[in-house]
Amino acid sequence: MARKIVFTSGKGGVGKTTVAVDLGVCLSLAGEKVLLADTDFGLNNIDVVCGVERIHYDIVDVIEGRCRAKQALVMHPLWHNLYILASNHSDPQKYISPQAVRLVLDGLSHAFDYILIDCPAGIEGGFHRAVASADEAVVVTTPHVSALRDADRTISVLKSYRLKSVELIVNMVRGDMVADGEVLSPPEIANILKTPLLGVIPQDDGIFLGERFAGGGKKAFRMLAGNVMKGTRRIYNAAGRYGGFFGSIRRSLKKNL
Ligand SMILES: Nc1ncnc2c1ncn2[C@@H]1O[C@H](COP(=O)(O)OP(=O)(O)OP(=O)(O)O)[C@@H](O)[C@H]1O
Ligand SMILES: [Mg+2]
Repeated sequence: MARKIVFTSGKGGVGKTTVAVDLGVCLSLAGEKVLLADTDFGLNNIDVVCGVERIHYDIVDVIEGRCRAKQALVMHPLWHNLYILASNHSDPQKYISPQAVRLVLDGLSHAFDYILIDCPAGIEGGFHRAVASADEAVVVTTPHVSALRDADRTISVLKSYRLKSVELIVNMVRGDMVADGEVLSPPEIANILKTPLLGVIPQDDGIFLGERFAGGGKKAFRMLAGNVMKGTRRIYNAAGRYGGFFGSIRRSLKKNL
């Protein structure tokens, strides 16, 4: 049976989809069979982020009986252990119940090791629909104050669900700013949010440009995947290369970019 993990945030644009997709790729490269399920029915984009162009059926087609769940799965063209279940493309306003989504994902659970559920921003209906299908939750935040406040709110709402775990990923961490004390470090953020740290992903232009596994993001995602699979808690040190004499030169160069 698959582990069903939902990626939530509260605040939009903090990297839920990116983290779910890149973690999914890493897990699949490690031999795990992974399903990326898009439950962001308003601004669905997991297929685009994955570079999958043709979607014949989506999750709503499954729910409304136009196809079987397996027919709606799209195998990734590069990583054959990675599958995508797109959210609806036709009518984003259509009401889909949390139970219906859960039924579809439960039905697919035996065929996968992991089902990674991409949740919409906010803590409204779409959030409930995504979280109700999961057994574990990951809250994605950036070090910015507005994201932290929304993450805090999200974590408190998650307490009302029956989840095995709620953990934290701090994304878009700028090592130079952490080293200069301009933003909180990921362990400080985890302390404030009283939530265990599952991973840290640096701000990486390669990620922004959609180049899977470029720059520091590559190592960080490998460590994250290891933590998810093995239960370890190895955390990427984004500030590492900005310490000491050469680090201070790197910091000032980065500031002037
Ligand atoms: N670590 C990172 N470094 C650089 N850019 C990143 C990183 N993580 C995400 N991004 C970029 O930030 C943007 C927002 O990411 P993404 O769409 O994954 O966020 P989201 O939380 O899923 O947004 P939404 O709430 O709209 O669903 C994208 O352009 C993505 O490429
Ligand atoms: Mg998203």
